[in-house]
Amino acid sequence: MSTKTPGLRCAALIAFLACMLACGGGSNTTVNTPPPTPQTLRQAATAHGINVGAAADSQYLSDSGYATVLGSEYSQLQAENEMKFGIIHPGVSTYDFTGGDALVAFAQSHTMAVRGHTLVWHNEVPTWVTSGGYTAPQLSTILQDHITTVMQHYAGKVYGWDVVNEAFNDDGTLRDTIWYDQPGIGLAGLKTLYIEQALNWAHAADPSAKLYYNDYNAEPLDAKSDAIYAMAKDFKTRGVPLDGIGFQLHIDLTFDNPATLASLTSNFQRFAALGLELHITELDIRLQDSSSASLAAQAKLYGEIAAICVQQPSCKVFQTWGFTDKYSWIPGAFPGWGWALPFDANYQKKPAYTSILNAL
Ligand code: XIL
Repeated sequence: MSTKTPGLRCAALIAFLACMLACGGGSNTTVNTPPPTPQTLRQAATAHGINVGAAADSQYLSDSGYATVLGSEYSQLQAENEMKFGIIHPGVSTYDFTGGDALVAFAQSHTMAVRGHTLVWHNEVPTWVTSGGYTAPQLSTILQDHITTVMQHYAGKVYGWDVVNEAFNDDGTLRDTIWYDQPGIGLAGLKTLYIEQALNWAHAADPSAKLYYNDYNAEPLDAKSDAIYAMAKDFKTRGVPLDGIGFQLHIDLTFDNPATLASLTSNFQRFAALGLELHITELDIRLQDSSSASLAAQAKLYGEIAAICVQQPSCKVFQTWGFTDKYSWIPGAFPGWGWALPFDANYQKKPAYTSILNAL
């Protein structure tokens, strides 16, 4: 039984209401404390369940500026080259895991995820394969052995693989390659069946690995993304092991227009509706100069793409192709272009960095 008089009760009620107003309507004084501002890309991305990654190369890990930024800002790395066929499988019965293992060791010591790249690709196939005069059945054995050996070496260390990379032409037809039809692995002319075969081999090699198809120029709705979508839908319908799609996003500032960005968003939506993960795998935004206007425009576009990923729940990876302008493939691959990444050549944060951090 209460010993308080009605007058005291009234005073208590007034005090309570005053507190409610002063405290912003809650009884817990911590409700208005803003969340801590993320200090790194990694902290920001983790809050959204996104891996923020960078392509990396083991030869640069001895550069302390490189190692410090990679190990502190990123939650994922991917070998830029050192898990590709030509490097990792340089002779008929020779595997060289040195570079890949060094990257995995670095990732493990910095609690980073490792994404594997890539098992079936028309590029960087060593001459022992391209000039070996192999028949289709022999190439089938070679490719299955390659996929199995590489994936089993990294089982439990690499969470997922770009099993097949760049298999389509921009018009949506399948690219002629040594694995498809020149002479191929025995499935020439049977469209995406060789991709399906590679995915099935990969699943058998490491059943716990996530399996991805990765390509470029397939980010907006276009003939190429339509073809990849048709393949993905067919695979999901028939239970072929495919967990997601990698969108490379090697772009320039022409990508920054409302129609293209809306098309990217729609494209992501249709793949997400199939139950697939979406990974931004190789983003870089190349420039022709490093004027402050160009860097600002680059920052704006980086932020817009990061925001599209954050707003799409199935977008699980936001990864750039490298992270410092000191080591970027762009000047070599696109003469006259450069300055494509969020850190400059001295590891200083560019406007793009801040824009990504704010968007994530
Ligand atoms: C590039 C590397 O960045 C270069 O260092 C190398 O010389 C060639 O390959 N699409 C891909 C990547 O899937 O593997 C490519 O990487 C860039 C385009």
